Amino acid sequence: MEIIITPDYEQMSKTSAQIIAREIRKQHDLVLGLATGDTPVGTYKELAKTHKEEGLDFSKVTAFNLDEYVGLAPLHENSYNFFMEENLFKDINVNPENVYVPQGNTNDPEEFSQWYEKKIKEAGGLDLQVLGIGGDGHIGFNEPGSSFASRTRVKALEKQTIEDNSRFFEKEEDVPRFAITMGIGTILEAKKILLIANGENKANVCAQFIEGPVSSQITASALQLHSYVTVVLDEAAASKLKRKDYYNWVRDNKHLVQKKVGR
Ligand code: F6R
Repeated sequence: MEIIITPDYEQMSKTSAQIIAREIRKQHDLVLGLATGDTPVGTYKELAKTHKEEGLDFSKVTAFNLDEYVGLAPLHENSYNFFMEENLFKDINVNPENVYVPQGNTNDPEEFSQWYEKKIKEAGGLDLQVLGIGGDGHIGFNEPGSSFASRTRVKALEKQTIEDNSRFFEKEEDVPRFAITMGIGTILEAKKILLIANGENKANVCAQFIEGPVSSQITASALQLHSYVTVVLDEAAASKLKRKDYYNWVRDNKHLVQKKVGR
């Protein structure tokens, strides 16, 4: 895992957008996994800016989102379909035919989940998956206890996730109790993974998934089993890490590291 600690949210957003842009420039038909939530809003703004000012071309990119609330139609203002449209898709030149976000209002979530997995496979698999992390250590909506072999399916949301996400809804009772989410197994098959996190409220969980044991109780810790993960944090989210000095040395000596490690 490469850990890049940045001073603040703005720089976290810039650095993560640069990483995504680099991959798109290297491979125009990149298959890009995307996340929603507060964390990537700044990253998506930066990507939209890079598209506008530098012509970053999304026309051949295929995008797959991680998750969606069960029961919410794509035009519902709290749906992740709506979020993606508002925060990224409307500002870039991605082909709508190449955009996949799970359908929360499907009649048959199980069949839909299998179809979603098939679509990812047909696209050639995820080249780069962008992730945030939940307060309970989830990636996607893979709540504590999720199998590391899990595929796209319906998951019941943890109490903490419902509380955390109630800030987007009028009242807590309005937060859906279930979501369709890519599984940990689906995420781990991505060729590269980029996790971003900011804020003091993510400090404990970041220390746990980066430096703690691999455990399905903190599902982000499954990323320790992946060979190409980059984590971009702000200072606050990194504040509980024990090996900060080491991560910063690697970051600041990138030229040496690239020569020796090739990354
Ligand atoms: C969203 C998702 C979630 C969020 C996580 C953090 O698509 O998959 O895992 O990344 O809940 O959310 P924020 O960024 O709002 O703190």
